[in-house]
Amino acid sequence: MGRERWASRIGLILAMAGNAVGLGNFLRFPTQAAQNGGGVFMIPYMISLLLIAIPLMWVEWAIGRYGGVRGHGTTPAIFRLLWKHPLAKYVGVLGLFVPFVVSCYYVYIESWTLGYALLSLFNKLPQVSASAIGHPQAYLAPFAEFLRHYTGMGSQKIFHPALLAYVFFIVTIALNVTILLKGISKGIEKLAKVAMPLLFLLAFILMIRVITLETPCGTAVEGLNFLWEPRWQELANPKVWLAAAGQVFFTLSLGFGAIITYASYLKRYDDLTLSALTASSLNELAEVILGGSIAIPAAAAFFGVAAAQAIAASGAFNLAFVSLPAIFANIPLGHLFGFTWFILLFFAGLTSSVAIIQPVITFLEDEFHLSHYRAVVTTMFTLFVLAHVPIFLSGALDEMDFWAGTFFVVLFALCEVLIFFWGFSPSKAWAEINRGGFIKLPRIFFYIMRYVTPIFLGLILAWWPLQMIYKIWKAATQASLVKVLQETFSAPWTIWLTRELLLAIILVFCFLVYLQEKRRRS
Ligand code: ALA
Repeated sequence: MGRERWASRIGLILAMAGNAVGLGNFLRFPTQAAQNGGGVFMIPYMISLLLIAIPLMWVEWAIGRYGGVRGHGTTPAIFRLLWKHPLAKYVGVLGLFVPFVVSCYYVYIESWTLGYALLSLFNKLPQVSASAIGHPQAYLAPFAEFLRHYTGMGSQKIFHPALLAYVFFIVTIALNVTILLKGISKGIEKLAKVAMPLLFLLAFILMIRVITLETPCGTAVEGLNFLWEPRWQELANPKVWLAAAGQVFFTLSLGFGAIITYASYLKRYDDLTLSALTASSLNELAEVILGGSIAIPAAAAFFGVAAAQAIAASGAFNLAFVSLPAIFANIPLGHLFGFTWFILLFFAGLTSSVAIIQPVITFLEDEFHLSHYRAVVTTMFTLFVLAHVPIFLSGALDEMDFWAGTFFVVLFALCEVLIFFWGFSPSKAWAEINRGGFIKLPRIFFYIMRYVTPIFLGLILAWWPLQMIYKIWKAATQASLVKVLQETFSAPWTIWLTRELLLAIILVFCFLVYLQEKRRRS
């Protein structure tokens, strides 16, 4: 039987946009922008978008279509075709490891949004008197306590989430299974055709409601000013550049292997230049316009700009699950707006989670010829079991997010572009990208993809060890080297267990790739 294909171009673009538009657009983006200089964050953001993200987007679509035409939708096999080196298929393991590990905690956070949506709709979130609005800390405290109880996250090593949180986690897993079982065109594409327009509509309604918010403490417009007012001195800070590049990666799902797998269901002459650009533009619309106009402006209107900044600094979860429900608690029809906010997040999460789960399913189908049903059940059962690590172990979620969702994403993106534009053949890679394209890419992008993107990615990667060396060097000059080394290498057992688990996951994928290679040769 041949591989499945997308049923329509609009379905493909919406599915790719759904892949990209996720919790990152509505939670991570405003928090990152607020923490990194407000308006000036957008300059490195736009530069990263132009020099890394859009070129990488075309590279990932092209790699995926190239592999799919040859019967492979994941990078262990596609890299082997592109780069005739025994290591190629093992580098490709990252294209399974990254999305799979991210999906193990992503689905859990997604389940919180579903839980909160229903709690909001049925008025089961805390109620507080409007008189406390002038004292943000006291006003927010019941909501922070509610989130702590719901997730069970605290200072202890083993978390105890509420039973309800666990039930919603299972429901979310079941929903993902239902969609994935139906396959690419009947499951993922159909979901995107309904969920994406709905998501944009809900976000638009919320944006309008938020922009018209005004309290004695402030207005939403003050929040927008805070978010977009440039603080130029921040531009010299490498941290801002790193954060902007990291956000661009996360929001567009680059370096996740997920775009490659989706693109593997394209036909040989399907357009990719314009389709990739359209899907990315939809993501940017959802991120910069809608994502930037809800959470922070709402917090600024309710608690004042200074408090909104403090909330953003305390992280994306506080912004979404503490500050927003607290705001909706005291506006007319607040429970409906709360439901709108969380169901919007749920749709954004669901269309992304099916995308990051799909690579492992495709791998089992393409390389081990498992039936679709068995591939989905095997993948989802393993994911369900492994998700218990971030649910119950303190620090595991952040550790997984750092390795899979931050570090390996960039490393994998660098490998992709090097393999395609250096290991394969630059002229063939360029021709592959442009084949069937509704727009022909300006030649300058050839040089950007071949030189600028890899250098830019290399610099980002070099930043981590350089930062570490700098820390150690500074400590050595201050005679506290031993302390810094101890801090760097001594982590609680929960973190070490998570690291060992991550290593085990990589090794299992390497072993599967090795097995598959042996079968192929014999
Ligand atoms: N791109 C997805 C998001 O923004 C992963 O959440």
